[in-house]
Amino acid sequence: MGYKVAIVGATGNVGREMLNILEELEFPVDEMHAVASRKSRGVEVAWGDRTIKCQDIEAFDFSKVDIVLMSAGGDVSRQWSEKIGKAGPIVIDNSSAFRKDPDVPLIVPEVNPDAIKDARKKNIVANPNCSTAQLVVALKPLHDAAKITRAVVSTYQSVSGAGKEGMDELWNQTKAIYGLGDATPKLFPKQIAFNVIPMIGSFRDDGYTDEEAKMWDETHKILDPDIRLTVTCVRVPVFVGHSEAVTLEFDRPISPDEARAILRDAPGVMVIDKQEHDGYITPVDASGEHAVYVSRIRKDHTVENGLSLWVVSDNLRKGAALNAVQIAQLLDETGTIKPSSGYRSITV
Ligand SMILES: NC(=O)c1ccc[n+]([C@@H]2O[C@H](COP(=O)([O-])OP(=O)(O)OC[C@H]3O[C@@H](n4cnc5c(N)ncnc54)[C@H](OP(=O)(O)O)[C@@H]3O)[C@@H](O)[C@H]2O)c1
Repeated sequence: MGYKVAIVGATGNVGREMLNILEELEFPVDEMHAVASRKSRGVEVAWGDRTIKCQDIEAFDFSKVDIVLMSAGGDVSRQWSEKIGKAGPIVIDNSSAFRKDPDVPLIVPEVNPDAIKDARKKNIVANPNCSTAQLVVALKPLHDAAKITRAVVSTYQSVSGAGKEGMDELWNQTKAIYGLGDATPKLFPKQIAFNVIPMIGSFRDDGYTDEEAKMWDETHKILDPDIRLTVTCVRVPVFVGHSEAVTLEFDRPISPDEARAILRDAPGVMVIDKQEHDGYITPVDASGEHAVYVSRIRKDHTVENGLSLWVVSDNLRKGAALNAVQIAQLLDETGTIKPSSGYRSITV
């Protein structure tokens, strides 16, 4: 028995990864529907060893599917997710549209799986921001062992976090700078090739950006509202993989060795931490992988109970598509959803 699944945003970076990961994790799918904007009607996307044609969101009948993986941005989600939820299917939403809604659970399955009990309130489950997802996977096991009281996080976010247009802009600017062509920024506020941009999203009155606020709001909802968190989000010229320099203060002493041992046993975490060049992870190493990698675990000598660490993950996988598919697995395993269709076969 399998599910009837629709992916909205199937032509995008995250949508394509969702198709890959559903197949990789052998999620039971009876029917797969690729949905995107009208301009992509008929465009083919890969699903396993075959291709399926995209359908126009305006013409798609969502009442005939069980699960909708929504990955087409906040505006599309605000327009469609509640309507779809009311029509029956459960929506797993990748955008920020519903993350703060008290009737919508915001879930990272390694961290707060019990929140799935609220999935039926609106038939919407929210997937967190890519930087939050990898952060809370690393923080949760440490927080269970010694309460984290304060976190200072600086992100190094890849251009794929801004969608396929972000990747195109880095590629085109890099070529233009080498070839003396036009490197004028279009999507990013400043040149991204051979540069770093210390702001992501839009500025708020307090000087932070909405991307930074998402990280503390979401960490509070998923993990613990009492953790004080300050964040600087930075865009870097990396195609895939977000990195984070994280400094933590605890309510009791915790040594780097104890932290390493805790993290080695934690779900979803891979510790690669030796003082040698194969002993730490970069975004290039993490790209295409499922794990949240933790390296450079060391004592912060400037506070009483402090640790610093380096956290890296594939933003299109754990930061988006993998987490969404894990939520679908959780819905299935907890019996929150049941397949509506017959034996497993894939329609193309
Ligand atoms: N990239 C990340 O690291 C990441 C992480 C977490 C969450 N997210 C979220 O995931 C979502 C998608 O991100 P992405 O990186 O995949 O973006 P993307 O590569 O730019 O793809 C956007 C997708 O949305 C579709 N779309 C746009 N307007 C639409 C409309 N009016 N109706 C139907 N479909 C429409 C596009 O279809 P067309 O090709 O037809 O335009 C495309 O399939 C966003 O909400 C983003 O915030 C991304």
